[in-house]
Parts: sequence; C-alpha cells; structure tokens
Amino acid sequence: MQRILVKRSVSKKDKKVLLMGWVDKIREHKRVVFIDLRDMSGVVQCVLDPKDFSQKITLESVIEITGLVKKRPEKLINPNLETGDIEIEVKEINVLSPAGEIPIPLTTDGYEIDESVRMKYRYLDLRRARMARNIRVRSKAVQFIREWLHEREFVEVETPILTKTTPEGARDFLVPSRLQPGKFYALPQSPQQYKQLLMIAGFEKYFQIARCFRDEDPRADRAYGEFTQLDIEMSFVKQEDILRLTEELFTQLVKKIFPHKKITQFPWPRISHKEAIEKYGSDKPDLRKNKEDKDELAFAWIVDFPLFAKQSEDDYFYGSGEARFAPSHHMFTAPHPDDFTLLDKDPMRVRGLQHDMILNGFEVGGGSVRIHDAKIQEKVFELIGFSKKQRDQFEHMLTAFTYGVPPHGGIAPGIDRFIYVALGEPSIREVIAFPATSGGQTAVMDAPSGADEKQLSELGIEVKSEK
Ligand code: AMO
Repeated sequence: MQRILVKRSVSKKDKKVLLMGWVDKIREHKRVVFIDLRDMSGVVQCVLDPKDFSQKITLESVIEITGLVKKRPEKLINPNLETGDIEIEVKEINVLSPAGEIPIPLTTDGYEIDESVRMKYRYLDLRRARMARNIRVRSKAVQFIREWLHEREFVEVETPILTKTTPEGARDFLVPSRLQPGKFYALPQSPQQYKQLLMIAGFEKYFQIARCFRDEDPRADRAYGEFTQLDIEMSFVKQEDILRLTEELFTQLVKKIFPHKKITQFPWPRISHKEAIEKYGSDKPDLRKNKEDKDELAFAWIVDFPLFAKQSEDDYFYGSGEARFAPSHHMFTAPHPDDFTLLDKDPMRVRGLQHDMILNGFEVGGGSVRIHDAKIQEKVFELIGFSKKQRDQFEHMLTAFTYGVPPHGGIAPGIDRFIYVALGEPSIREVIAFPATSGGQTAVMDAPSGADEKQLSELGIEVKSEK
C-alpha cells in the first residue's frame, strides 16, 4: 500500500489508508485512545482500542498507521483542523522509530524556552507548528521571487564564497589557504563586486539568493555570521527603475504569500534622508498607521542620502589618511551627477544615489546606482583615505572599468530580515533554520571548534592561545 499524506485522507472516506508521521499527542481514555498523527501536511486524529495500544508508543515517535477513514459524528467535528471532519480507525500500528523523552516542549510557540536549549535541539524546535510555518513561508517567498524574476528575464548566477574582501562595513571572515600557506580567502560580505562584474560581462539583469558573511555583533534584526540577500543588479537603468521593480516585486509577493497583510501605502512613499531625520528622527521611520496591528506593512524608500558619513571607530576597514570619510552605503555608490563638483570642494555635501527600502521601522534592503567610471571610483577611494595598498586590492574593478561598462545599479533586500519583519517575530533567528546563537555558536553542531595539529600545520598556522 502507498503512503498518503495526512491531509489527503479527507478525500478517502470509508477507504483504507497508510499514514506515516510523528506522534503529536496521545489521549488515553478508558474505552478509547486517541493519537494525533502529524506529518508535513498536518495532523489527523487516529482512534485505537485501548487493548491495541502499547505503552511503548511515546510522544514524537515515528509511526505508521493503517486504518479506515471515518467521517466524524457531527458534534465531534473540529472546525479548526483541516482534517477535522474525519478520524482514522486504526487497524494496525507500527513504531518505525521510537522517541525518548523530548527535552523541550513542542506544543507551545516556544518563546518561553531558553534560546540556547532551543538551538541545541533545533531539529526538534523546528517541529513546532510556528517554526515549521516560518520556514515554509520563507521557502514560498523565495520560490515566488525566483519565478517572478525569471519571468522578467533575470539570470540567476552563483558567485564565489571563497573570495577576496568585499567590504560592506563589517569584519571579514577569513579562510586559510592550504595551497598558499599564509594566505587567506575572505568570505563575501555580499556579492557586490561580482554582480557589478556580471554587468560588465553583459548579463544586464542578474539576481541571486545569496549567502553573505559578516563578523558583526548580532541584534534582534541582525543574524550573526551569515544571512541571505536577494541580490539584484541591472544595467542601463536609472534609480527610478530599480525602485519600481523592487516595489512591484514585494507588493505582489505580499499579496501572494501574506494575503491577510495590508500594505499601508502604494506606491511606497519616498522620503529624502534629510526629511526622514528632521521629521522622524530616524533614517528608517516606522510609518504604520496603527502600530498595534500585526497585519500592517508600511514600506517606504529613503533616498538622497549623503554619499559620505564621518568615519567612526568601527570603520577600521577604510583608510586612515587625511580624509576620514566613510561611504554612507558602500564605496561603489555613485555620487549624484549634480554634485560631482562638490567631490573636491565639500565631500560631505555630496548626495549619493543610494536607496534604502524600509518596512515597519526596519531597513529591509539597501542599494544604489553604481560608479561606472574608473576616475570617479579612484576619487572615492582617495576620499575614504585608502592607502595605495588598499586601493590595489580593488585594481580588478578599475581594470574592468576600462573595457566598456554599462551604467548599472541594484539593490539587496535581506531575505531573513524581510520575512522576520513581515511575520512580526521578536528575533530574526525565528526565521532561520539553523542560526548561530548570539555568542556566535552554531545551532546543533557546536562550531567554532579547535582544529587538529595536522590541519593547522598544512595551513601553516600556529595557534597562539585557545580560550
Ligand atoms: P547592505 O549592507 O545594506 O547592502 O545589506 C542589504 C540588506 O541585507 C540585510 N542585512 C542583514 N540581514 C540579516 N543579518 C545581517 N547581519 C544583515 N546585514 C545586512 C538587510 C540589508 O538591508 N551589496 C549591498 C547591496 C547593494 O548595494 O546592492 C549590501 O549588501 O536587509
């Protein structure tokens, strides 16, 4: 007999079915035992005779059940359950894999449990209905994005993970090279330079569901170590085209994936950086009309950012020469063409063609029109105080700029960040299957960990001290 999914059993009334899944609940009465069987599609109530019920069946064990699908008597119908008008009269039950005592409750929403314990047993934590829903919603959103962009002639390209530094303002993760001991790859903070090179390569419309790596302190809206962006780049576009495309994509995505959510305003309001600061005191204002309403999504664009900000303590990446400007977005962002002359005179007054996508008070995406002229790029390197050595790290970009560069620009909405805000979860980790804890420890696997001597010597590495 072929196994069917729990939710399909509703169309099999009075037929015999084979179901497999986890024991979600057990309720023992004198004359009858109920087992709720859960699989990827839902839960169904199974009814057993107490004499057929072996005490060896524990919660969360994996079982198979052969039984008859029966319509429930009218007054026992459960309208809250997709399978609520049927139950399975069990003929045979087998334990495929028994479960020991489960270390964390799975029937609650889980917020009350210590996060480090949830992470240790993340594969169990993901069984809870809320987490399973979050991960599925995320998958559906990514599928929608992929299809939507493919229909519009975007090409999905994977770019290297073992690469050179791609500064986005955080510390890099370094990976030692075995073939060239003493040298290191950096994991990309974003595919920024590669996507620009893909424009030079002539693809014109690129996207990637891209993993990005940043060594920065975690926050409620910031994952430690790695996160995912929808990385987009287009050639022969103006800022307006990037904003429109993104706005269309996310508006349609919300309609399809979050149909009960309401977008406060469409087209999304556009607010200059100056106005945002003056009026709301923030460059990511929360524009919801009713902040108590979980189903309101207030998108907006923040534009006309200053190209530079003053360097802060954390901007250790940028140069330390005379000039102490840090790019407000990143060093590839184009200055506003009307402000070119200010680059020499008064750099802090130059506007950049940057755009931030905000949602309910969070920055969910950032992007810009890019510099495509080597001379301007050199000028920006100079203004951020790059030494010759630092500048030479980007020689490949300057060289590429000499071979015919289309004007281009793009954006990168954060996938985790967007889903987290749209679902109104208290932490971004609630929408990531296996996130690192706030201490940088990975879920379940307990990395980082020491390396053995042989590995280290092949890499030419000596560890000074291990904490
Ligand atoms: P930026 O650095 O602004 O731009 O990042 C874009 C978006 O990525 C998400 N994000 C994060 N999400 C979770 N955890 C983090 N630690 C984290 N850091 C960033 C946010 C953010 O808005 N290359 C440019 C994009 C471009 O110019 O096209 C970039 O990475 O949602």
